[in-house]
Formats: sequence, C-alpha cells, structure tokens
Amino acid sequence: SGGNKKYFGVDLTSGALLVNERIDREELCGALSPCSLSFEIVVENPLELYSGTVEIQDINDNDPVFPSSQARLEISESVAAGARFPLESAQDPDVGINSLQTYQLSANPNFALDVQTRVDGSKYAELVLEKELDREEQRELNLVLTALDGGSPPRSAHVQIHIDVVDANDNAPVFNQSTYKASVRENTPSGTLVARISAYDLDDGPNGDIIYSFSSHTPAKVRELFALDSATGELRVKGQLDYEETKLYEIYLQAKDKGAVPGVAHCKVLVEVVDVNDNAPEVTVTSVYSPVPEDAAPGTVVALLSVTDLDSHDNGLVNCFISPGIPFMLSSSLKNYYTLKTEGALDREKAAEYNITITAKDSGSPPLSAVKHILVQVSDVNDNAPRSSQDSYDVYVLENNMPGIPILNVSATDPDVGRNAHLSYTLLGDTTFGHLFSINRDNGTLYLLTSLDHEDQVEFNMMVQVQDGGFPPLATNVSVSVFVTDLNDNAPMVLYPHPNTTATYTDVVAPGTPAGHMVTKVVAVDADAGYNAWISYTLLQATDPSLFSVGLHNGEIFTARQLREDDAPDVHQCHHLHLCGRDG
Ligand SMILES: *[C@@H]1O[C@H](CO)[C@@H](O)[C@H](O)[C@H]1NC(C)=O
Ligand SMILES: *[C@@H]1O[C@H](CO)[C@@H](O)[C@H](O)[C@H]1NC(C)=O
Repeated sequence: SGGNKKYFGVDLTSGALLVNERIDREELCGALSPCSLSFEIVVENPLELYSGTVEIQDINDNDPVFPSSQARLEISESVAAGARFPLESAQDPDVGINSLQTYQLSANPNFALDVQTRVDGSKYAELVLEKELDREEQRELNLVLTALDGGSPPRSAHVQIHIDVVDANDNAPVFNQSTYKASVRENTPSGTLVARISAYDLDDGPNGDIIYSFSSHTPAKVRELFALDSATGELRVKGQLDYEETKLYEIYLQAKDKGAVPGVAHCKVLVEVVDVNDNAPEVTVTSVYSPVPEDAAPGTVVALLSVTDLDSHDNGLVNCFISPGIPFMLSSSLKNYYTLKTEGALDREKAAEYNITITAKDSGSPPLSAVKHILVQVSDVNDNAPRSSQDSYDVYVLENNMPGIPILNVSATDPDVGRNAHLSYTLLGDTTFGHLFSINRDNGTLYLLTSLDHEDQVEFNMMVQVQDGGFPPLATNVSVSVFVTDLNDNAPMVLYPHPNTTATYTDVVAPGTPAGHMVTKVVAVDADAGYNAWISYTLLQATDPSLFSVGLHNGEIFTARQLREDDAPDVHQCHHLHLCGRDG
C-alpha cells in the first residue's frame, strides 16, 4: 500500500489480510467521513494483481473536550430576563453519532440552556436568563455545563461555570424635593446662593456617593449664569442675570451616585428673576421737522419720538414731558410714542430756535430718567415790514446848493432775515420831482440833483418807499420834506418911488411944514426871506442932514424939524437925499 505506514499485512500462506498496527480513524481522516485505505495485492505463480479498499469505521473513542474546564461570567443583577450569554463550545474529534451531540446544564433556578447548531453542523450552547438575578439574594452561581456525544455509551465533558452576580446599584439617589423655587433680583452679584438641592442614596460606598450636576440637556446659557457645587448641591449665581432677557429659569439638575452603573435622580429649580429698575428709559427721536416756519399754525408737528424702557411693570412705565415756558407741547396718542407740536404762535424775531429738553422718566423706585435735546429752528416768514427810524424827515437845504449832493440817508431796518430783510428804496411820485431828487435804491441815500432856489420853491414833499424782498414784499412809506433855506442872494428892490429910471425922485415940501410930517415913503422889497428880506432904511447923504429923517424899518421920510423959508436954498434948488435900503 502507498504511504509510509503499513497498516495492513498479509498472511503469505493463507492470503488473509491482517491489521498490522492500530488504526486511528481520527488521525487518518480527521473529520472526513467515510475514511478508507486502499491497497494492492500481488499473487505469484501465476502472477496477478488485485486492488482493495478498507473502510475504517469510527468508534466512540474520544471524549468531547472543552477548551478550559472553568468559565467565569459576571452578570449584573439588573440584566433582564431573556438575556443570552454564549458559552464556549466543546470539541469531539469523532464523527457522526460519536461526535458532540448536545449540552446539558446543571439544574438551577435562573438559567436555561439553548443548544444551537452552526451551519457546519457543530453545536454550541447559550445560557438564557429565565429568572432575573438578585445579588442581594445570591451573590454567585455555580453551574456545570456538560457536553455529550452520541456514542454508546456516550462520552462527555464538563465545564464549571462560575457566575458572579454584580451589584446593580439598584438604589438611585432621591431628591428630598422634586422642585425647588427661588427668586433672585436681577442685579444679584455673582456668587449669591440661589438654592441648595439635596438628595440621598440608600446604597453604600460609591453607589451611595452623590454628585450633583446639570442635566445633560441644560442650555449653555444656564451653565454660564449659574454654578452648581457638585458636592454640596449649592446653586449660585455666576453671571449677570437680566430680567429683561429671561424672567424665569427652569433649571434641571441631577444627582448621580458613583456606582458602576450609576443611579440618577432629577430635580427642577425654578429661579424667578425679579426685575430691578436697572434700565433708564431711552428716547429716540424718529424725525424732526426743523426749521418750522414762524407762521406755522398751532398744532404743527415738529418731531416724532418714541421712548423705550427695558424694564417691566412700573420700572418700565415711562412718562415724557418737556420743559415748560415754550410754545410747544408733547402729546401721545399711542403708548410710548409722542408727537412734539407747536402750541402757540412762533415768532422768529423773538426766538429763532428752541433747544427743547425732553425728559423721560420711568415709574420705578427710584425712578430713572433720560434727557434728550431737540433743536428746533424757526424759519423766517416775511411778516415784518421794513421799519424806518423816523416816520418822516425834514431836510433843510441851503439854496444855490451844488448839484448832486447827498441830503439824507433814509435808514430803515427789517427784523426778518435774508431776502425778507433785503431793503430797497424808491421815490414815490417820481414824475413830479424826478428831475430834482434821486434815491440810491440800495442804501437809501437821497441826492439832490440840481441847485435849488429858495425864491423859486421852498418846500418839496415826497414819499420814500422802503420795500423788502419777501414774497409778497412788504413796504413802508417814509415822508420826506425838503425845505430850501434862504441865502441872502437878493438885494432889496425899490418899488416906490418907481425905479424904472435912474432919475432922482422929487417931492415938494412947503416951508413951514412942521416936524414929523411924512414927506414920502420909500417902499422896497427883498425876494429873500426872513432877515434876508428884512429891509432897513438909512439916510446916506443929505444936503442938510438936520432936515429929514428916515424910518429905519418903514422907509418913511419925515421932516425932522419945522421947515423955514431959508431952508429952501433957492427956487430951483432941491435938498438931495440919498437913501440906502439894506436887508437883514
Ligand atoms: C441744548 O441744551 C443743553 C442743556 O442746556 C445743552 O447741553 C445742549 O448742548 C444744547 N444743544 C444745543 C444744540 O444748543
Ligand atoms: C405808500 O404810498 C403809496 C402812494 O401814496 C400808496 O399807494 C401805498 O399804499 C403806501 N404804502 C403804505 C404801506 O402805506
């Protein structure tokens, strides 16, 4: 036969096939089945060749074997019924019925055995928890797993299974209150105690040691604002609380013991944040309609404002008012919205702008307030006519003046501004005196264009109109009277005796005429006025100065004494008087 081992021999005389040595099927074929050995037989005389096969049959000569004789399991008492724990399989080199067929488990109150077959036909067992373990009742279990083959008699193997029942930390911590309540003022400083939570745990050792913490779903904001002492359960303020942001915190906390499978209890802390008047009102000026024309009707809206206060209730209840004594008022038709209106008439000439102080005050205790200034400008309206410093002017001009001289400055002002105060001067009734007077349109200087003659016209009356540039324009009339004052430019003129000749005037006075007799009266006139026309008469020259006198003011010539015969020099002789008329 091939191979090294000669399992078979032959009896050379009888031809019996003999087993040479012990044949181990498991060694030859392992799990292969059937297991056979082939051989050739040579017969001599005559020479013949035969072949044959010997099938090696299995006998149950092997025990099942577990990889180890001891197995250890740790199972928590909290494991629920139905849980499965696979066990190590035993091996049996035999085949067929002689191979491993089943497992058995020693009797026990908790576990059953479930034998499963793999695809390759091999079997394994699982422990199935039928009744939950209780460590407090039984700390450990010792089971025996038996593997059995199907031989006859069957062979078996055993493994000791030691089960430790693990403590399940079955007492969770318990809070002495499920909800804690606290209230904290919003400006409470960091570190202030809010609440102290407390839980107990009946377990001993680590299973009874409690650690306090925030529940896992606690928002980051809460963790920023509050700190929890994990050992004492003291909840303290850590950040800056703000009522306006959050009024109530619902904080979920947990107490956890230090067990391997820790027990957990939850509680809730309701932290009410109490409002403190920590926010001043804020005034927002939405729009300002400035400048306001000075003729704006009372009730004209000048500005819109709103007030806000982040606080609540009274702390956020805001009143708004303006400083008194100005023609403005504040009204509110909608909570926290105000309109600033004009209340009375405005006059830019009295107040060109108002710095309006708006005070907003909340109703907290103590109240907080805010101040806002609104500058309202009043724009000009042409509501003022030009004003002249005088209603009328009397101007005196000496006659024979130089032409083109300024004689008057009509000064006027206008309280308005800009165009409304831009004044222009014109002469009214220009046609009458247009050739005589002219006014500078811009500065109101009145010029006399020609030389005047008192003897021609003494008085000129005219109107100067001062007009502003507003729309419509306003004007003021100023009356101007120009008086031409006299210059002594006219000599007295003799009317009587008639001065048409240069001849001497002759009158006859009889001798014996007493003293005081009016001989004649010289009448002279003077075109000038006043003193300039006040004529005085004097005797310049006389043949006999003792004979006649002249009335200084009336030009009457009187006899100074009685005339005698001998006063007449001769018949043809005359007394000659030479008179002088002179003005004042
Ligand atoms: C308005 O008055 C306030 C207080 O007197 C002052 O501080 C502010 O500068 C004034 N505003 C203007 C524009 O004059
Ligand atoms: C100024 O005088 C003119 C002419 O007499 C007249 O028409 C006008 O109404 C007067 N204006 C005023 C403001 O008195």
